[in-house]
Amino acid sequence: MPDDARRVEELEQALARQRRDLHELNTIGVALSAQRDVHKLMELILSSSRQLTAADAGSLYLVERGKDHDATTDDQLRFSWTQNDSIEVPFEEFAMPLAETSIAGYAALSGQAVNVADAYDLPPGSPFRYGRSFDQRSGYRTKSILSVPMRDHKGEVIGVVQLINKKRDPQARLQPVSVVEEQVVPFTSTDEELVTSLASQAAVALENARLIQGIKSLFNSFVSASVTAIESRDPTTSGHSSRVADLTVGLAERMDALTDGPFKDVRFTRDQLQEIRYASLLHDFGKVGVREKVLIKGKKLYVGEMLVIRQRFAYIRRTLEAEHYKAQLDAIRQGQGSPEALARMERDHQARLAEVEQLMGMITAANEPSILEEESFRALMDLTSQSYADAEGERQPYLTPNEVQALSIRRGSLSEKERREIESHVTHTFRFLSEIPWTGEYRRVPDIAYAHHEKLDGSGYPRKLAGEAIPIQSRMMTISDIFDALVAWDRPYKKAVPVERALDILREEAGSGKLDTRVLDLFLGARVYEITLPRGGARG
Ligand SMILES: [Fe+2]
Ligand SMILES: [Fe+2]
Repeated sequence: MPDDARRVEELEQALARQRRDLHELNTIGVALSAQRDVHKLMELILSSSRQLTAADAGSLYLVERGKDHDATTDDQLRFSWTQNDSIEVPFEEFAMPLAETSIAGYAALSGQAVNVADAYDLPPGSPFRYGRSFDQRSGYRTKSILSVPMRDHKGEVIGVVQLINKKRDPQARLQPVSVVEEQVVPFTSTDEELVTSLASQAAVALENARLIQGIKSLFNSFVSASVTAIESRDPTTSGHSSRVADLTVGLAERMDALTDGPFKDVRFTRDQLQEIRYASLLHDFGKVGVREKVLIKGKKLYVGEMLVIRQRFAYIRRTLEAEHYKAQLDAIRQGQGSPEALARMERDHQARLAEVEQLMGMITAANEPSILEEESFRALMDLTSQSYADAEGERQPYLTPNEVQALSIRRGSLSEKERREIESHVTHTFRFLSEIPWTGEYRRVPDIAYAHHEKLDGSGYPRKLAGEAIPIQSRMMTISDIFDALVAWDRPYKKAVPVERALDILREEAGSGKLDTRVLDLFLGARVYEITLPRGGARG
């Protein structure tokens, strides 16, 4: 029974081919669902459908919905990707109205695959045309076309895969165009089935990738809105977080590229770089937990407190004047108002006024965040024992013990309690970031931010971590953070430091074991610090 034997053999071959196709489709499906980058995904959709069908070229169109969601009249078809084995095609994205007059448009609107044997010889009555301008411009000859709509999980067409020129020999190059006649054949119904099946998987993968991209950009805008909100509480830190992010990511990129030295094995993936960016952008977010007046405190006394003291001293001056005139009047009434006596009284009065003036000057000087000398400290203490009579006649001290305490801050402008409050921002940052369900690749964001004020020798805060216990990402961030804090324009407690001086301060800190010298060497050597400096000159 040779006929039966041949029949069995044919069936077995067909079965084997189907198994192969199915296997290939499965492999492609897995690859599609793993790819999250929209562009790489489009590349993959085209290359795998072309491989399945031996197509020489292909294009991918995406449907863009217009404002009117119920009608397709303002929808567009965007030419989004193209591949061609025979000629170099300079790719340029463009959009055209979604209409039945083009083959891809017809496939998208009808939801049906369109299979054309020769684009130059369309069946009579076809609703679509084939514009030859591309062929004329590029010296190509488009013959067979298979245009397949991509449907998402809701059955909605989101785009079209269009394959061009099925070849007898998949390796053949269709140049010169005379080759087309012998090489190009129409797409088969099996091709149609295969590509339809691939296109639906592609549509789901594409929708997923677009969703993920959408979520990412939504999250990014949320992060930058949060950063703007936190920085608006302290105008002098405006832009600090994103500069620290640029510097730290820049440092990580340089480190990643090193092939020798202490960091030759350190590598950062794209996700890890993004993790560093998020941690840097949000490192100071915990400042929401610090009272604004403490955050922007530039002097030892709050503005309101200093105002009260100024008014008090104006009152003291007036009181002295009133007492002086009353004394002169009393002297004249009692017949003791000789010109000499009155002149003496006037001199004494002026001396007292000068003394009050001098005290006020001393207080103003002590209010500055500079280091307080021992003798100024003692002079301040004296003022608690000097007193004046208030409006009710009660004796009141020139300065209250609280005021003296604030003015006696030996260094900077913050009291111990206020310094601790400012430092608490790190813990607030950690708590806040720990509330966010970071997905796997970003899970270390809270830890990296948590360590941005730790120092290598254990002298930092809040956990006094030392050495390797501080993540390398945090050690990089600490250097960026200090550098930006130094060179940033006017902070309330200090003026901007020139860049060279800031770099010296970093060297000193590293020299005393607080910063990672190897990281700093990279920061300096690769001139990472220039990333955030305004073009054409150093800030500060
Ligand atoms: Fe901080
Ligand atoms: Fe900071």
